[in-house]
Amino acid sequence: MENLELSLNERKVLLELAGKGPVSPEELMAGGKFAELVEVMSAASWLKSKGLLDIHEKIDTRYIPDREAKEYLKRGELPEFSLLKSFGDAGKKEVSELQPAGLSRDEVQIALGWMKRNGWVSIRKEGGKSFAQLTDAGKKQLHDGPETGQMRIIRLAAAMERDGGAPESDAKKLDAHALSMLLTRKGILKVKEKYVRTLSLTEKGKRLASSGISVGEEITQLTPEILQSGRWKGAEIRPYDIHTFAPAQHGGKAHVLRESIARIRDIFLHMGFTEISGDYIESCFWNMDALFIPQDHPARDAQDTFYMKTPATMDIPEELAGIIAKIHENGGDTGSEGWKYKWDPNQARRAILRTHTTVNTIRYLRDHPDPPVKVFSVGKVFRREATDNKHLAEFHQIEGIVMEEGASFRMLIGVIKEFYARMGFPEVRFRPSYFPYTEPSLEVEVRFGDRWMELGGAGIFRPEVTAPFKIKHPVLAWGLGLERLVMKRYEIADIRQLYQGDLEWLRKTPIK
Ligand code: PHE
Repeated sequence: MENLELSLNERKVLLELAGKGPVSPEELMAGGKFAELVEVMSAASWLKSKGLLDIHEKIDTRYIPDREAKEYLKRGELPEFSLLKSFGDAGKKEVSELQPAGLSRDEVQIALGWMKRNGWVSIRKEGGKSFAQLTDAGKKQLHDGPETGQMRIIRLAAAMERDGGAPESDAKKLDAHALSMLLTRKGILKVKEKYVRTLSLTEKGKRLASSGISVGEEITQLTPEILQSGRWKGAEIRPYDIHTFAPAQHGGKAHVLRESIARIRDIFLHMGFTEISGDYIESCFWNMDALFIPQDHPARDAQDTFYMKTPATMDIPEELAGIIAKIHENGGDTGSEGWKYKWDPNQARRAILRTHTTVNTIRYLRDHPDPPVKVFSVGKVFRREATDNKHLAEFHQIEGIVMEEGASFRMLIGVIKEFYARMGFPEVRFRPSYFPYTEPSLEVEVRFGDRWMELGGAGIFRPEVTAPFKIKHPVLAWGLGLERLVMKRYEIADIRQLYQGDLEWLRKTPIK
């Protein structure tokens, strides 16, 4: 055997592994012979470089219950079983009449699909109508109850959620076919994958271990005591190796959203703007009426707006409300015809979660009607939107206004272009759009790669908006989406990634 120099830890790892199959570094630790994981891993990489040991990496796959699965656990059954139950003894039903209580229309469709895939039902046409007939398998399942293979895997995943989820091998053992089916369903199982390492000796390593190596003293850290006493003379001192394993160190850093907001703040401050902010809870009056949004505007209905329960209403400034009421009704003395309806103060008093940060700027203008005004805000807004990869019910807007003598359309475009250029996106285009409070109104699109993405709105406030505050000069205004911009800045495909607290992703994503 060639002459091999082994450090104390390397010898220990070698001896620990002798006669064993693959062992994880964590298991070696558990033996109590090592103080830290990094000792094991660094010795292992040394042994590897000497051809004595192999380090294997494999993926450990685990399942935890996702949103839908939690719902099914609460119900105690999958939708296909709820539908199966609704067949009762007759065992036959017209497809269009399938609608058991507790299932939505969509769920019935999904449930029927699964009944078919499970072979519980066959569909036949009779006289132009579709009938579903339970098969023997369906009847048997009805008798056996709701614990199908899929349901049992969901239960396993829930039972093991706290231990990191159900291992793939356990789920397969329960019912491999049901598992593969379950993985095609949306919102049922969250898949967590982790790299795990195992160590095992090579043939050469095994030979060395069995030839009997002794474990002597090794110095890994020189101390003044060792130097002074001269103990170093007879001892083995471990050499340095910059290639050896070391655990990754993650410093603290700003979240990508926080970083982006800080950058935006920086840009507007450098452009001479002042930052403003406001409250999440607002009256309709400030969020909408003061912006000349008519009270029957579709955005006001519960589709888009979250109305508050407590407080349900808020005080509004009565005198100002009187002026704004007239402007809505007939234009007041603005020269406009208004919206021609009876303005309702109760509607204006309703409390909501602000739907845009334009409410911040209109409030600011009330207190600062004299030029020059250059303010911005970055704040959260709320809309009743279904969440998907592009939409959130809570998101941020980058809002701002310029009010000064001679402020113009070209300035508006210039400011917005400048902002995006400083964010690293120099190509911006504008399209005509509509907002009740601006004229002209613009849609702002930014080019990312070969695609244009709509990121917000802009325009010049109408006289109906500025008149009640006795504002004499043009107000250039914009409200831009933050999250979509951050998605492009960090090349994220799903907007929800920004709010998931995915530590692994945050750690490996370099901050701009
Ligand atoms: N408030 C608009 C929105 O939420 C954006 C906007 C702001 C449009 C200012 C014009 C002027 O989409």
